[in-house]
Amino acid sequence: MESLSGKVILVTGAAKRIGRGIALRLAREGARVAIHYNGSETEARRTAAECGDAPIFKTNLEDVSEIRRLFVQIREHFGRLDGLVNNAARFTAFDPMDITEADWDFIHSVNLKGTFFCCQQGAKLMRESGGGRIVNISSLGGIRPWAEHVHYCASKSGVIMLTRALSKALAPEITVNSVAPGVIPFGEGGERIDAMIGATPAKRAGTADEIADAVVYFLSATNFVTGQLIAVDGGLSQR
Ligand SMILES: NC(=O)c1ccc[n+]([C@@H]2O[C@H](COP(=O)([O-])OP(=O)(O)OC[C@H]3O[C@@H](n4cnc5c(N)ncnc54)[C@H](OP(=O)(O)O)[C@@H]3O)[C@@H](O)[C@H]2O)c1
Repeated sequence: MESLSGKVILVTGAAKRIGRGIALRLAREGARVAIHYNGSETEARRTAAECGDAPIFKTNLEDVSEIRRLFVQIREHFGRLDGLVNNAARFTAFDPMDITEADWDFIHSVNLKGTFFCCQQGAKLMRESGGGRIVNISSLGGIRPWAEHVHYCASKSGVIMLTRALSKALAPEITVNSVAPGVIPFGEGGERIDAMIGATPAKRAGTADEIADAVVYFLSATNFVTGQLIAVDGGLSQR
């Protein structure tokens, strides 16, 4: 395992919730963290301050030209990129019979297209400095079918397969792995979340820090670990 100390690592959607937890953890590991956000500037500034005055980068990941600009900015600021955590995503619920083209594109433009083009642009920058590590945050919903989130499940299943295909395409210099969170609530509750927690073999919800543990593993592992998926879900994917 390689130390993350001094490594330049970009975390997308790092202002709040799981992304914030990952960014804080990477900073504690000694990494030079780049904080990406889109709408949550105040929260991004707070997370950045807690990551040792990390720089913040605003990008709408729906737009591939903005993604290109993000990686140009990372190159200008740090001159290199060692790690990329694609965490930003959208989540909506619809009866699949009611879903519109716009609803479908709303999810896929960020979760699948945005993740792919971040991998592409991140890998180009990593290759300039000899290689790197990409971790894509997928979801239990990319493994198990959820009737009211068909579009989201399809996007996250796509993230898992693009992780596997890119691991072959980018080897041996760059590894590409995925972490699939189970139920990681931040105060939100309700019948569905309660039922999922009740069905979780661990009998509890997970935390951002538990997701960060798996991210740190993939970022620190040698290039002998690639194309892999770890579900951090209290065992819920086994039911
Ligand atoms: N929480 C869970 O229970 C759970 C379960 C399974 C999987 N996951 C996955 O884990 C990751 C983090 O989950 P979370 O619940 O912490 O996520 P979240 O709060 O729903 O979203 C994370 C961030 O994504 C960013 N984002 C959304 N649309 C964007 C866009 N167009 N351009 C740029 N950034 C955009 C947002 O940044 P701004 O706020 O700055 O706009 C947001 O803060 C996601 O990939 C999610 O699918 C979460």
